[in-house]
Amino acid sequence: MDKNEGSQSKAGPESPKPLENKTIVLGITGSIAAYKGADLASRLTQEGAVVEVVMTKEAQEFITPVALGALTRRPVVSDMFHHAASHQITHVNLGQKADIVVVAPATANIIAKLAAGIGDDELTCTVLATQSPVLIAPAMHAAMYLNRVTQDNIGRLKERGVSFVGPVEGRLASGHFGPGRFAENTDIIGAIHQILGRKGNLAGKRIVVTAGGTQEPIDPVRYITNRSSGKMGFAIAAAARDRGAEVTLVTAPVSLAAPYGVKIVRVNTAAEMFEAVAAATASADGLIMAAAVADYHVASAAANKIKRERGTLTLELAPNPDILESVKGDFARVGFAAESENLIENARKKLEKKRLDLIVANDISATDSGFGSDNNRVTLLSAGGKVEDLPLLPKSVVADRILDRLVSVLREKGHSIH
Ligand SMILES: Cc1cc2nc3c(=O)[nH]c(=O)nc-3n(C[C@H](O)[C@H](O)[C@H](O)COP(=O)(O)O)c2cc1C
Repeated sequence: MDKNEGSQSKAGPESPKPLENKTIVLGITGSIAAYKGADLASRLTQEGAVVEVVMTKEAQEFITPVALGALTRRPVVSDMFHHAASHQITHVNLGQKADIVVVAPATANIIAKLAAGIGDDELTCTVLATQSPVLIAPAMHAAMYLNRVTQDNIGRLKERGVSFVGPVEGRLASGHFGPGRFAENTDIIGAIHQILGRKGNLAGKRIVVTAGGTQEPIDPVRYITNRSSGKMGFAIAAAARDRGAEVTLVTAPVSLAAPYGVKIVRVNTAAEMFEAVAAATASADGLIMAAAVADYHVASAAANKIKRERGTLTLELAPNPDILESVKGDFARVGFAAESENLIENARKKLEKKRLDLIVANDISATDSGFGSDNNRVTLLSAGGKVEDLPLLPKSVVADRILDRLVSVLREKGHSIH
């Protein structure tokens, strides 16, 4: 575990609620994974969404509407005719008010009914009645999932524009291993963000983000690195995805889960990162270099493990090329300047020397900011001379502020932005 992961519990800037003002209809069906649907409902509620849960009759054999009502602080739709009789919310207005309808977990049975256009309960009727995006997270035994009929049904739904997240391979409730396992809730939430952001102001743009601290080998078992956790770059990658961008994340080794829907390229050294960035930016609109790239590498790394000997050991370090300065192409360039002194002055020098459009100056001497932290306190300096000093903010919020500026840069460069 990252030693700084516990910092979330510390008092700090308030976490953002990225799903505020969104209504999510969450259909839960009769799968053994239904309890994970309860966790999903809770997490979506914590992100600020209004979560309208619709449970099939069979789902209620696994978990109760009482639990879901308590987690979402909303009435739960568990009986179509009861709700209609009492003039409560119906499938038609549920489908219409939803920003997205998510069926998680989805049984083979509900997938078959949806593929056939059958509406015989509140959930199937809601999906039939909605014009909003529909996301399905299947969960079933591998044999049911691999069955031709299920595969055909999934294919038909995909053809009609329904999105799927998972299932993944892994341990199944039966004790077997195989495909059919319910996707991780983090990925389902990532998929929801991605779908809701499809028409965002980076829609159709190709953005390359780098993250983490490169590792420069000394010998086969040792390396030189730095304190970068990768959190800032990962937050930017997820935030760009949530604005509709097609994101490639080039990352040095980090202990963070890959954001769903982002193409990940894993590298170790600065030289490898350079190559990966050059390849990824060949068709990119923007490059955001949040990685802490080593300035030096060991001139000749030992082929075998260096033995301990008396006296000192001297390592000769050779400079690495500066990726932002050397990588060719006509795309927006955003750099980072982590400084412990003369922050603005040094950042401005970098901005000019590397001919960047924007630089994010990061005072690493500030408390609870920068490396490893969930928060960051940065100053944004634009090529045009604009300086924006931001307070201590969660990295996800900083990511959005950086992307606001990137959007302006792209506009200035003549890109059409929605
Ligand atoms: C213990 C148990 C676990 C089940 N788990 C699943 C499952 O994970 N996926 C699935 O497709 N069906 C599963 N089923 C079968 C469904 O519950 C059954 O097809 C039911 O009719 C689904 O109804 P619904 O799709 O309306 O919720 C399970 C049944 C039982 C008894």
